[in-house]
Amino acid sequence: MILVTGGAGFIGANFVLDWLATNEEPVVNIDKLTYAGNLHNLASLKGDARHVFVQGDIGDSALLSRLLQEHRPRAVVNFAAESHVDRSIHGPEDFIQTNVVGTFRLLESVRGYWNALPDAEKQGFRFLHVSTDEVYGSLAADAPAFTEDHLYEPNSPYSASKAASDHLVRAWHHTYGLPVLTTNCSNNYGPLHFPEKLIPLMIVNALAGKPLPIYGDGMQVRDWLYVKDHCSAIRRVLEGGRLGETYNVGGWNEKPNVEIVNTVCALLDELRPRADGQSYAGQITYVKDRPGHDRRYAIDARKLERELGWKPAETFESGIRKTVQWYLENPEWVAQVQSGAYRDWVQTQYASA
Ligand code: NAD
Ligand code: TYD
Repeated sequence: MILVTGGAGFIGANFVLDWLATNEEPVVNIDKLTYAGNLHNLASLKGDARHVFVQGDIGDSALLSRLLQEHRPRAVVNFAAESHVDRSIHGPEDFIQTNVVGTFRLLESVRGYWNALPDAEKQGFRFLHVSTDEVYGSLAADAPAFTEDHLYEPNSPYSASKAASDHLVRAWHHTYGLPVLTTNCSNNYGPLHFPEKLIPLMIVNALAGKPLPIYGDGMQVRDWLYVKDHCSAIRRVLEGGRLGETYNVGGWNEKPNVEIVNTVCALLDELRPRADGQSYAGQITYVKDRPGHDRRYAIDARKLERELGWKPAETFESGIRKTVQWYLENPEWVAQVQSGAYRDWVQTQYASA
C-alpha cells in the first residue's frame, strides 16, 4: 500500500491511474478536492478495491495519523499543493496554508508513524515530495539548465511556497532522519490538465472561439514534459532514489510560449478545422504581462538518467498531439471542471493590451 496526496489533481490522478494500470499494490488517495481536484479524473477506478479515496486536507494531522495507522503504507507521495502561479498572485494565502503549513503537518504525521514502525518497515519506508523547477528562479537566456545544486531563488508566491516545502522536507531528513526524496520537475502537460494552465487553456479557448491570451511578448521559455513521463520518473525515484537526494525531472524541451500556442493552433487546424477555414492562430491576443514573470526555466535531468536510467518516452511532438486529441475527445470533462469566479478575475487582470 502507498499513500498519495493530491491524487485527484492533474499529475496525482495521472500517477494513480498509471500505478494501478501496471501494479497490484493498492493506493490510498487523500485529496481536499479544491477547484483543481476532480473525482471525474478517477472515474475509471470506480468499484476498484485497490483504490481508497478519502476527501481530506494534508494539514489535518488527526486524519492523516489515523489513515497512516489504518493503511500502514510503505511510502507516501506528496502531490497535494496549490499549483497555479496566477492564482498565487491573486491570493497567496492558500499557497502558504497548503504548500507550507500543510507540508509541515504532513511531515509531522508521517514522522510519528514512521518512528513507531518496526525496524524492517522503517528501513524501507519512503516519503517522496513532488516539487517544481520554479524554486530555482529565472534563467538568463544563455545560462546552462538548472542542476540540482542550483541556488533556490523563487520569485512568485507559488514558487516561494514550494521552495519552503522543499526546505522542510530536507530538514526533516537531516534533523529527524526521515527517509525523504524530492523531485523538481519542469512544466507538465497532458490529459486531465486543468484549463487555467497555458496548454489546456489555449485548446479550450480556441475551440470556444475565444481569444488566446499570450502574456507580454510571449518569448518566455518553459521546458515541457508529458505528464506520464513525470509519473514514470517519480516511480523510478521512489524505487531507487538515494535518501535525502533531490532529482530534477525534465524532457529537454525548451520552447517559448508563442511557439507552444502556434503548435496547438496548427494541430487544431489539422484535427478540428474552424468552420470558416481560417487558422485558430487568428485568435491569438497579446495581453498585459504577468507580474514578476520568470523569463526562462530549463531542467538538466542528467542525474536522474545517470543514477536511475530514466528517460522520457514522449517527444514534445508526440506528447502535444496526444494531448490535443485527448481534449477533443473529452469535452464533457472540460465542461465539468471549469469554474466561474477565477475566470472573471483572469478576464480583468489580463484584459487585452
Ligand atoms: P493540481 O492543482 O492539478 O492538483 C493539486 C491537487 O491537490 C488537487 O487535486 C487538489 O484538490 C489537491 N489539494 C490542494 N490542496 C490540498 C490540501 N490542503 N490537502 C489535500 N489535497 C489538496 O496540481 P498538479 O499540476 O497536479 O501538481 C501536483 C504537484 O506537482 C504539485 O505539488 C506541484 O507543485 C507539482 N508540480 C507541478 C508541475 C506542473 O507543471 N503542473 C510541475 C512540477 C511540479
Ligand atoms: P502556466 O501554465 O501558468 O505555468 P507556469 O507559470 O507555472 O510556468 O504558464 C506557462 C507559461 O505560459 C508562463 O510563461 C505564462 C504563460 N501564459 C500565457 O502567456 N497565457 C496564459 O493564458 C497562461 C495561463 C500562461
